[in-house]
Amino acid sequence: MKGMTLRSPGGLDRLEPLDLPEPGGPGPGEIRVRLHASSLNYHDYGVVSGRMPTEDGRIPMSDGAGVVEVVGEGLTEFAVGDHVVSCFFPGWLEGPPAVSDFSTVPGDGVDGYAREAVVRPATWFTRAPKGFSHAEAATLTTAGLTAWRALIVNGGLKAGDVVLVLGTGGVSIFALQLAKLMGASVVATSSSDEKLERVRALGADHTINYRQHQDWGVRARDWAGGRGVDHVIEVGGAGTLGQSIAAVRVGGHISLIGVLTGRAGEVPTGALMAKQARLHGLIVGNRSQQMDFVRAIEATELRPVIDRSFALAVMAEAFRYEESGAHFGKICLEF
Ligand SMILES: NC(=O)c1ccc[n+]([C@@H]2O[C@H](COP(=O)([O-])OP(=O)(O)OC[C@H]3O[C@@H](n4cnc5c(N)ncnc54)[C@H](OP(=O)(O)O)[C@@H]3O)[C@@H](O)[C@H]2O)c1
Repeated sequence: MKGMTLRSPGGLDRLEPLDLPEPGGPGPGEIRVRLHASSLNYHDYGVVSGRMPTEDGRIPMSDGAGVVEVVGEGLTEFAVGDHVVSCFFPGWLEGPPAVSDFSTVPGDGVDGYAREAVVRPATWFTRAPKGFSHAEAATLTTAGLTAWRALIVNGGLKAGDVVLVLGTGGVSIFALQLAKLMGASVVATSSSDEKLERVRALGADHTINYRQHQDWGVRARDWAGGRGVDHVIEVGGAGTLGQSIAAVRVGGHISLIGVLTGRAGEVPTGALMAKQARLHGLIVGNRSQQMDFVRAIEATELRPVIDRSFALAVMAEAFRYEESGAHFGKICLEF
């Protein structure tokens, strides 16, 4: 079967095609999954670009979706033919956060899903939403579940809340869609007026070009009646936190998800304290949360926004597209 591997020290030109033997088994408690799609995340980009060093020969990609081909002895949760999607943290099944690094994450600390089949413990996957394509399902593992956890699990989002989403990448577009489905209002920012038009079409109530308006957080607060927004989907990190704090209401909630502006920097801690806001760092979520998310998707009309799909063999091209920043929502690999 076909796969892709990353040679040290990483870099998009260090991605190589790989011929792999078909996986044997599965053993008791395992499933064999024929994979048909993956989706790109900024974290996968960190790995393949060599910025987050990994082992020589690593099979990249954290997100994987496909069909159960064989079910191991004693397993009742899945049946042959079920459509499934992988979990970001295979060992974190439920309960409070139990991990603070990527050592167990497929595509980083262990081999991932840039290949046509795997045998894994059944708990490494959940059911995919009914009616989803494999590419749509693959978007849930990382970007989708992160937005779900930020707003629903940690944020306790409710109808009438105001949500601020930063930029138009995978996590932010999922957060916009979830917020609208839950009856919240959304302020969305982007560096591109054309992308802002697209977020309005998805239901954003107010939009701000963050390149043209450095005070986008103050503007978001003013739009929210001067009271401020209830939740911020913070994907920028230190370079954007100041404006996110300006945007949030007293007692509001900032989900610290990304560090697109850099891993460290100055933060106006006094302003954060005065706002009495919750600044909540998070990394994706657990398997039980993913199962809740899948149920919620089936009860609503949420469909992931996929900008473009690429073939597995040209995954470097897919990452170059992500690198360009031209995308809106998710980029996928289909195989
Ligand atoms: N903690 C977690 O669990 C978790 C999970 C997933 C992702 N992340 C992190 O979240 C971040 C976004 O991930 P992603 O997969 O959604 O990335 P992505 O799909 O590549 O999206 C990146 C988008 O972010 C926007 N952006 C870039 N710089 C910005 C800035 N200074 N201010 C506001 N927006 C900016 C741009 O939107 P425009 O083109 O519209 O300007 C860009 O298209 C990354 O840092 C990633 O590592 C964390």
